[in-house]
Amino acid sequence: MPDKDAAVIAAVAKGLEGVIAAATSISSIDGTAGRLTYRGIPIEELAANSFYEEVAYFLWNGQLPTQVQLDQFMANLVSMRTLPDNIVAALKLFPANSSGMDMLRTVISLLSVSDPDEENNSQESNRRKALRLMALFPSIIAGFHRVRNGLEIVPPDPVLGHAANFLYMLTGEKPDPVKVKGIDLYLVLLADHGLNASTFTARVIAGTEADMYAAVTGALGALKGPLHGGANQGVMDMLDEVGSLDHVDAWFDATMAGQRRIMGIGHRVYKTEDPRARVLRRVSDEMGYAVGKHDLHEMALRIEQRALSHPHFVERKLAPNVDYYSATVLYYAGIPLDLFTTIFAMSRIVGWTAHLIEQYADNRLIRPRAQYIGPDYQPYIPVAERTVEKLAEVAQSLHMSMSQS
Ligand code: CMC
Repeated sequence: MPDKDAAVIAAVAKGLEGVIAAATSISSIDGTAGRLTYRGIPIEELAANSFYEEVAYFLWNGQLPTQVQLDQFMANLVSMRTLPDNIVAALKLFPANSSGMDMLRTVISLLSVSDPDEENNSQESNRRKALRLMALFPSIIAGFHRVRNGLEIVPPDPVLGHAANFLYMLTGEKPDPVKVKGIDLYLVLLADHGLNASTFTARVIAGTEADMYAAVTGALGALKGPLHGGANQGVMDMLDEVGSLDHVDAWFDATMAGQRRIMGIGHRVYKTEDPRARVLRRVSDEMGYAVGKHDLHEMALRIEQRALSHPHFVERKLAPNVDYYSATVLYYAGIPLDLFTTIFAMSRIVGWTAHLIEQYADNRLIRPRAQYIGPDYQPYIPVAERTVEKLAEVAQSLHMSMSQS
């Protein structure tokens, strides 16, 4: 690469690292102190005292609800849980081996056509859409899982809370309180997280004044990747690959020798432990004993210990992120591995929609610039004259002129 280009690329904030691209009052991250707050309340306080529905109300409205407001909010949510007919029909079209995230992205996009108010971007309309999306995510994920296993879709139970009803619709059985608590905590901890890749994607789409369904569909596309939401499944695949506690050390050494990344470790913002990982480590420990599979948690602990004492991780300030112990928590809660990332989405839908409401309220098109590093000019060669030799000659002359400039 010519020196000039290398210098330009160095000046560009690759991956937009450190760039402030939006103002928000929804959540705040201090990556040095390892602190996360939702509208000023530390995540640990919410994890200890709150539950997902209350957190959703809080993130959308900026104030904790009174009991009356909370009851009304939860009743509205429950009233929106039933799957529209077109979604039930669509769930039957997916091949049984479809990825959960591909299904979710497709079905959420389809949801827009059963909303007569789809293109209305008013605050009122978007608040209703946000509630509809929050209510339907669990029904869609559970419905997909039932259908692909040749089982009847389980109708929602209005008496059950968000997490309990999800597990009930997934399994058709009365949910175990330990698993319900694990899922609810997970949903609370992942509800929002600043301008992460999927939230940024959602805000960029809203910035064009496209509707909320379009923005959430885009966010789901971004969340799927293994560097973002897909990492929770990556951690479980890794534990599966390790197999048992006595294989950890050999696996770790081979992984380091092969320069492979350890999923669930490292973060763009946190240069210390992710505070959500701290809570999830404890929950994973407790659930591991409760469901009689603590050996999996011990494997995760041992890998973490090896990583945290290895110079590669120490020098780069790499520590477990939220996805690390999410994997064992979701596994202990009985979530099928290929649905892990959809559960991340089921939580983050609240954060995405909170950011969208914020974006629509004070919108300006998001349109950054790129530093052009291509040729100043190249000739157009008519197709009749385009031989492999001719194209190679042009490419060579462009390369020469760019490295001389
Ligand atoms: N294992 C080993 N080395 C790592 C890891 C890891 N998990 N993560 C980063 N590094 C190293 C990387 O090799 C690089 O080393 P060097 O400076 O020698 O080239 C250095 O740390 C910086 O890496 P980077 O890719 O430039 O850092 P980033 O800020 O662009 O990436 C990350 C952040 C989360 C994508 C990365 O840490 C990663 O790939 N982690 C594993 C995937 C993961 O757990 N993703 C979930 C992220 S948190 C939840 C979410 O947002 O969904």
